[in-house]
Amino acid sequence: MSRENLYLCMGSACHQLGVYEVLPKLQKLIKEYALDEIVELKGCFCLETCSSGIVMKYKDRLFINISPQNLEEKFIKEILPCVQGMG
Ligand code: FES
Repeated sequence: MSRENLYLCMGSACHQLGVYEVLPKLQKLIKEYALDEIVELKGCFCLETCSSGIVMKYKDRLFINISPQNLEEKFIKEILPCVQGMG
């Protein structure tokens, strides 16, 4: 079964907002919730919603305003249900 890509914006605006702090936390959450069999985490170029950074994308859905502080909450409330097909 092929995994669906989960994108994390690595563009310069998102970089400035702390994407390098978000990345290891995100990797940990993906493991913790056993999503590593479903999704493949990939960095990507600017998703063109810089003013709402940090941004992630799954299929055609954008997750915005992510920060190192709120990542876990957003992951559980928004990203997880979406990836599991319940969002
Ligand atoms: S740099 Fe992340 S949306 Fe533009």
